[in-house]
Amino acid sequence: MVKHKQVKIKKAVKRHPKRKFRKPYLVVAFLGVMAWALVGYVERPFKAELPTPSADALYKQSKAPIEDRVRDLLGRMSLEEKVGQLALVDKNSLIKTEDIKRYNLGAILSGAGAKPRDNTPAGWVAMIDSFKAEAQKTRLQIPILYGLDANHGHSNIPGATVFPHFIGLGAAGDPALVSQVATATAEELDSTGVNWSYSPSLDAPEDIRWGRVYETFGDNPALNAQLGASYISGLQIEHVAASAKHFLGTGSMLWGRSKNQNFKIDQGRVETTTEEEAQMLMPYRAAVGADVKSVMIGLQDYNGQPIIQNKNLITGKLKGELGFKGFVVSDWYGIYEWQQSKYLATVKAFNAGVDMAMLPFNYKMFQRDMSSAVKNGDISEERLNDAVSRILRVKFELGLFDVATIDNKADSIGSGPHRQLARQAVAKSAVLLKNEASLPLLANSEKVLVAGSSADNIGRQCGAWTVEWQGIDGNWLPGATSILKGIEQTVGTNSVVYSQSADYENGIRAKNGIVVVGEKPYAEGWGDNQEPKLSDDDQATIKKMRSHVDNLIVVIVSGRPLILNQADVSSWDSLVAVWLPGSEGAGVADVLFGRTKFSGKLPIAWPASIQQMPIKEGKTKDGTPLLFARGFGL
Ligand code: BGC
Repeated sequence: MVKHKQVKIKKAVKRHPKRKFRKPYLVVAFLGVMAWALVGYVERPFKAELPTPSADALYKQSKAPIEDRVRDLLGRMSLEEKVGQLALVDKNSLIKTEDIKRYNLGAILSGAGAKPRDNTPAGWVAMIDSFKAEAQKTRLQIPILYGLDANHGHSNIPGATVFPHFIGLGAAGDPALVSQVATATAEELDSTGVNWSYSPSLDAPEDIRWGRVYETFGDNPALNAQLGASYISGLQIEHVAASAKHFLGTGSMLWGRSKNQNFKIDQGRVETTTEEEAQMLMPYRAAVGADVKSVMIGLQDYNGQPIIQNKNLITGKLKGELGFKGFVVSDWYGIYEWQQSKYLATVKAFNAGVDMAMLPFNYKMFQRDMSSAVKNGDISEERLNDAVSRILRVKFELGLFDVATIDNKADSIGSGPHRQLARQAVAKSAVLLKNEASLPLLANSEKVLVAGSSADNIGRQCGAWTVEWQGIDGNWLPGATSILKGIEQTVGTNSVVYSQSADYENGIRAKNGIVVVGEKPYAEGWGDNQEPKLSDDDQATIKKMRSHVDNLIVVIVSGRPLILNQADVSSWDSLVAVWLPGSEGAGVADVLFGRTKFSGKLPIAWPASIQQMPIKEGKTKDGTPLLFARGFGL
């Protein structure tokens, strides 16, 4: 229609070539109206010319077989409705809530830190409900997925239970515990309407300089496979879809090769062999075995090609060889990584096997590109239908069309049983690396000195992905217990003498001194670090404590092994790694004072120097010995 009108204008001009047009503003106005009409046409809402399905339509029947429901629904969908299902939009980029209906959006996410203004459970319920209600206004009433990164609990809400980050769960190495943590997380998510989590990470980091080491279960693909599968089952049993990520080989990215100028490793490059690839696929095989509903593709270049365009890996290996039946989602703006033309990028990613695009913004452009690609034959109808079917299947499997099957456990956020479980996980994740101070200590009334930057700092013990993407350094999370508080609760406040920097008066002495030190919170590439180690302040605090006590116990709160000065370590009596334990700091006191026995094992090799990076299968790059091998723990 628009094209036709343009032809007419051209003809009119031809017929009167010399006639002077005296009213140029009319031309401007006319062109303005045309432009408006064109934009309106391109962005026109889907007008429900198609029939509204009756209440007894096959796909609405909860007892009908899922495959029949998928086929029935797919058969009713227009191109616009199908394309909408493929879009995953960040809630902060949603221009208007009505766009969910207008563009038939399939899924919304809270990218890290994207929370409702009222960041309470009720605020989340109200926000997500309003999005879900909008989807119910569409002709086919296809429910939306609402996803976020529940990396260590529903850690977006102050007051939720913050479990240890995955690296701690890797140290605990207990599949049953991991499954319980996942179920508890799902209960907290479910109670606010979240039905999809971008976890677990199955990456196996080879380099501690990477800012995402703590998001993983460690560097052992076999352990990642086992714990990943347990996590997935534990989450999905509560109708929350898991997302195994970041396919594939993201833990093997190389230092100094990031394409993001702010980062060093993250969003970088992987160079790998066929044998290594087989190892990397191992946890995904287990995830598929656990019926994982989605897999997220990483942002890296893989052997010289953007992984998002690697058909051999996504369609061939993951969907073909491994038999993955769920849907493949791209990472944040991932389909556009490494690519100049957005249209071409869309075509290549979907043809490689991506089923849903985490856009996270610019969904109108995506819809235009995707619709044109199908109309132009650059993406086949068959591929489109496969992608949509995969997404719909997951929605049916989660019971989203049959609301009655979803529980609302509103009182589960930060509940007593969940905190108890988290505390147990903290204790199980602590790894005793050196013990000349005869840990555990006796929980008697004997005086104990406590110091260190992470002793009374809940923000540090939780790490990033806690309310804010990069976390918050400081003591601020309601309902949480710091490590210091946990110690005080165990031995009595009167027995604890706390000074953050160990600035004790000269005469003060005690048998035991505990210094809790470590890293500040960081997330993703912002945590890429040339040499992760203790700060000068932390080292000074440890030295000061040394002069006041017989037994010096150093507790490290960190997202990864830190490079330690070996002479320093020799001067400490005991050394404990507690990773990023989360809101229940009392779990640390439980192992220090013997309420729970130490049982954690290193889930990742602990290097002696940065020259040893990367470490592949326990072998350092420079051939020198590790400080502690993976699996070590007294
Ligand atoms: C991360 C993903 C995460 C996504 C959504 C990306 O930056 O790489 O792991 O799931 O953001 O928050």
